[in-house]
Amino acid sequence: MARGRFITVEGGEGAGKSTNIACIAERLRAAGLRVRLTREPGGTPLAEEIRALLLATRDEEVCGEAEVLLMFAARMQHVERVIRPALERGEWVLCDRFADASIAYQGAGRGLGMARVQALRDLLLGDFGPDLTLLLDLPVALGMRRVDGRGAPDRFEREQAAFFERVRAGYHTLAAAEPQRFRVIDASRELPQVRAAVLAAIEDFVAGCGDAR
Ligand code: TMP
Repeated sequence: MARGRFITVEGGEGAGKSTNIACIAERLRAAGLRVRLTREPGGTPLAEEIRALLLATRDEEVCGEAEVLLMFAARMQHVERVIRPALERGEWVLCDRFADASIAYQGAGRGLGMARVQALRDLLLGDFGPDLTLLLDLPVALGMRRVDGRGAPDRFEREQAAFFERVRAGYHTLAAAEPQRFRVIDASRELPQVRAAVLAAIEDFVAGCGDAR
């Protein structure tokens, strides 16, 4: 049986990840593929507990190193208990964020340095990583307007525009360094156009996976 494929979706706040992920899952299933939908931080009971720790607002300032290690603690549990076994069973794993988010948010956003977080990723994951990454990209101000009023902001959503600008620049750097893995989608457009671009990228990828069914 063919190994499944690992697809991740990344982007800033208000990029429309959830809606587009649901459309991708529907399209892959319609193509006869078995799809495992998951997210980070989270995706297992332990990793979801770590997620709650990470997102909770608190008086104590969280240092970037503690934050990135918690992200990777959740990630390793998720990879070993969910993602890798699913891929080995031939399932396609569709994940809302993965290690690129740590490089962009903690490396670039928090200022730990992208190279340090990449070194941590390499140490823990080796060459394990997504086969395809869709980056839903949009200007920070537009993303912030879209999420405004969605309910109580979590610890990340409380950050200032300058933090999200660094995150966005970090994602651009990652996408430019690995153009064969990344597809950058302009998510500032209306949802139907974004969805069409996302699905076109998925069709293109599936067409290139001759052994997948
Ligand atoms: P979500 O809103 O996409 O569910 O993600 C929760 C928050 O966690 C989001 O603000 C991005 C942040 N995050 C990181 O800072 N580093 C990471 O490695 C991951 C996976 C998410």
